[in-house]
Amino acid sequence: MMDTFKTVDSLRRQVADWRRQGLRIGFVPTMGNLHAGHFALVDLARQHSDKVVSSIFVNPTQFGPNEDYARYPRTPDSDIAGLASKNCDALLLPSVEEMYPFGTIGCVQMHVPGITDILCGAHRPGHFNGVAQVVARLFNMVQPDVAVFGRKDYQQLQVIRYMTSEMSFPVDIVPAPTLRETDGLAMSSRNQYLQGDERQTATFIYQTLQFMRQQCALGLPIGMTEDQAEQRLSMAGFTVDYAEIRRSDLSRPKAPNEPGLLALIAARLGRTRLIDNLEFDAV
Ligand code: PAF
Repeated sequence: MMDTFKTVDSLRRQVADWRRQGLRIGFVPTMGNLHAGHFALVDLARQHSDKVVSSIFVNPTQFGPNEDYARYPRTPDSDIAGLASKNCDALLLPSVEEMYPFGTIGCVQMHVPGITDILCGAHRPGHFNGVAQVVARLFNMVQPDVAVFGRKDYQQLQVIRYMTSEMSFPVDIVPAPTLRETDGLAMSSRNQYLQGDERQTATFIYQTLQFMRQQCALGLPIGMTEDQAEQRLSMAGFTVDYAEIRRSDLSRPKAPNEPGLLALIAARLGRTRLIDNLEFDAV
């Protein structure tokens, strides 16, 4: 039976009780509108813990003024049913007031330097600071031993790893593989914004990531591969934010055959912004 908690105090009492029993707490933070990708995070959390807590909170501080905060899909009833069917033990469903009691302007701000200024951070100013801010709050509220984050938002995963280590949160961060539709499109709550032909065109992102991997395997210059990837996406109808090859720490590689590289893409189709990445060893 999954219990739903709207306040931090009530959740903390439950978590404290589990801790007294020596149980390990796993945590899956989400913004709701859950799909198979999220449920896989719950399964993974279960492998690392005795009790799984999830949260649903559409965090206003990680959306820019012209982004989709208001229209972000909110489907609490089906989310709750889905989490319960996955045997999630507890759900934190806080209001904006519970999360930010002094408001989103009066709240303590966070800035994670360097890594938040590149890639998605360069195109969504303040986004990752908002993510770090809410995840720090959620860690403090839930006090988990382990927390699971998807690799699809690779930069977010790196920001959270950095913040967790730098602020000494006693939380193990477990990355989860990206789940894809059968045609390769990475699962995302934003896929449902895609209209008509856009859904088919969206598969081009994963194809382009594979193209980038092949180019690196052939030892072709990184700059050339990035330019070609961007051109291919533009010709397919995307407005490209970036198509880049990076090291796993998101620094720029010197050569296409370095081990542990990944290709990352963020591109818009109509009003929908999609992100994806592919980790590969070109050697
Ligand atoms: O990845 C998400 O869904 C969100 O960015 C997160 C980590 C739940 C923070 O709001």
